[in-house]
This record gives sequence, structure tokens and C-alpha cells, in this order.
Amino acid sequence: MTSSTGSAETAAAGQLLRVGVVGAGVMGTNHARVLAGLPGVELVGIVDPLAAHRTRAVQMLGCRTFATLEEMLDLGLDAVTIAAPTHLHREVALACIARKVHVLVEKPIASSVVEGHEIVAAARAAGVTLMVGHVERFNPAVAAIKQAIKDEEILSIAITRVGPFPPRMSNVGVVIDLAVHDIDLIRWFTESDIVDVQPQLASAVAEREDIALLQFRTASGVLAHINTNWLTPFKARSVTVATRGKYVQGDLLTRQVTECFGFQRDGSYSMRHLSVGHDEPLRAELLAFLDAVRRGAVPAVTGEEGVASLEIAIKCLDAPAGSIAAPLRQGPRAVAG
Ligand SMILES: NC(=O)c1ccc[n+]([C@@H]2O[C@H](COP(=O)([O-])OP(=O)(O)OC[C@H]3O[C@@H](n4cnc5c(N)ncnc54)[C@H](O)[C@@H]3O)[C@@H](O)[C@H]2O)c1
Repeated sequence: MTSSTGSAETAAAGQLLRVGVVGAGVMGTNHARVLAGLPGVELVGIVDPLAAHRTRAVQMLGCRTFATLEEMLDLGLDAVTIAAPTHLHREVALACIARKVHVLVEKPIASSVVEGHEIVAAARAAGVTLMVGHVERFNPAVAAIKQAIKDEEILSIAITRVGPFPPRMSNVGVVIDLAVHDIDLIRWFTESDIVDVQPQLASAVAEREDIALLQFRTASGVLAHINTNWLTPFKARSVTVATRGKYVQGDLLTRQVTECFGFQRDGSYSMRHLSVGHDEPLRAELLAFLDAVRRGAVPAVTGEEGVASLEIAIKCLDAPAGSIAAPLRQGPRAVAG
């Protein structure tokens, strides 16, 4: 991650971009904090209809705030990052795209697949960059795992993402809120689509699902599993990837990644800790977005990928317990690049 971030940063310093943030909640405040410190960026301000949140943003960041999106757009922006509640992503994204403003929208891209497609189509028609904030791809531990499995034949992936209930309950359950991160990782690690979904969901405390055990099969034949819940008193995030030649384990919080390799007939093998960068994931994500804007390049996480991951998450909610019909297995393949 360090070298790619380094080149993105160099490119980022080139042309001054005027960037605004939509939503002064937890994520929006983080976006604004990071943007304010990036080279080649002028943070124009942050929009939030809630006066108390605007006041908090002024106190924390000292930036301008606006009660409406129009006020901020009228000042002229190159790009926005959207961290308003998910049900507003479509409305806000379309308003920005209509003004030819490049957009990074937080995950999940929208509340529904139809709305996600609308955002993608509008961005394409307007010729603006659209990236989705699947920030976990920019976690240096995830980047180290991705690098370790490059050219390996992936067999299975197991991801755990558990923790306590979030302090602010939104109107989505744990699948749309948390598992969508890992659905994106499974698609990214395997560079393949998920074609079979076997969800087990339960609502132990909340109205919506708060425990989910999700099993998947990709078109390339990889088996994957996500264990997520809001009922564990501490946060844990881990990724394990079994390939034909390696067993890679990463802790996304401590950022320790180890790989076992060189399996011998007598059962012995070698093990090593992998080198992991220490970049802040959100900073790396925003640098990647701005680099794509400047170069007119395909962003690191496209709108189409955001919609695909949302579609799988929604399938998990819609599916009756058990399997959804899937195309025949096409056999595993090695991941390139
Ligand atoms: N990438 C991640 O790891 C991650 C983590 C948390 C949240 N998120 C995503 O970020 C988004 C925001 O989540 P959050 O946890 O920051 O929520 P939040 O409730 O803390 O913040 C949302 C903010 O948007 C404001 N808002 C409401 N209507 C608005 C409007 N019309 N225009 C502008 N602002 C408006 C609210 O007043 C609030 O301040 C969601 O889509 C969520 O899924 C992503």
C-alpha cells in the first residue's frame, strides 16, 4: 500500500481541487479532517441540515459549514464526498453529478440496487468520476493479504467482523451495514462474482438482523464465509485465505498478517509475518479518489462494484434460509494482479 499511496500522493499534489463533504456525522467529519490535511486539496466546507452538527464541525475542524447542498455547490466544487445517511445517497449524488462534480459516495452505494444503478448511469452520462467508499480495501493489512495471494489459486476465504451494537442505530441491519464490507473484499480478492448465496440470519436483540453467517461461492469456484454480528462485546475483524500453496491469516485491527507456506509431505511448513504498511485507510482511499479525478482514470472502487456488492448483500436478506440457485461451478482459477 505504501508505494501506491506514495505515487497517488505525488500526483495529488499536482492540481488544486476544491472538495466539499456532505454530512457532518461520524464519517463526514472524518472525511473533512483527512481532506483538510491533503496536499493539493482545498476543503470548501461541509453540509449538514442539523445546526448542532454544523457547530460541532466548526469546533472540531474550523471549516465552513452549510445548511444546504445547493449553498455549497454554488461556490463551485471539483469533487464531493458523500457521508449522509445511506437513504439520501441517490438524491445527493444525482444533484452533484448534475453539476458535473466528481463523487465519492460512502458504502453502501445506495439503499437499493435500482438506486445504485441510477447513480452509476448518471455519472457515466455526465462523464464524472464515481467511486464507492469501501475503505477496507485500503486497510494495509488487507492490502498485504491481497499481495500475498497474488498468483495463488484461492480455495476458501473466511472473514469475521463482530462487535457491539453501534451507538447510533440506523435503519439497516448488520448485513447491509457490516457484511457489505466483506462481500466487497471477497469479490476483490477473488476477482470473481458471487454466484451462490447461503445466508443464515437472526435477530437476537434488534428489530433487523443482528447476527449473520453467510456462505458464498464465486463464479471461479472459491468458497467464502462471513461471520458478523452486533452481539460481541469487543470488536474483532479477521481474514483467513486458504490457497493451494498458502494459508494467510490477517487481523485487520492489529494489522498483523502471517502466511504459512512450503507445505511438506511430513506435515511441516514455513511461516512468516508479512510486512504491513501503516497508512490511515481513509486517507489512502481519499488520495486514490482524487488521483482518479485528476487523471480521469478508473477509480479503485467503481460504482458498478459498489452496486454488485450491495446486490449480494440484499440477496442475503431476500433469500430464504438455504441456497439460491447458481450457475454451475466453473472451477477455481488463479488470481492475477
Ligand atoms: N466506510 C465505513 O467504514 C463507514 C463507517 C460508518 C458509516 N459509513 C457510511 O457513511 C454514511 C454516514 O454514516 P455515519 O455513521 O457517518 O452517520 P451519521 O448519522 O453519524 O451522520 C450522517 C450525517 O448526515 C447528516 N444529514 C442528514 N441529512 C442530510 C442531508 N440532506 N445533507 C447532508 N447531510 C445530511 C446528519 O445530520 C448526520 O450529521 C452511511 O452511508 C454509512 O453507511 C461508512
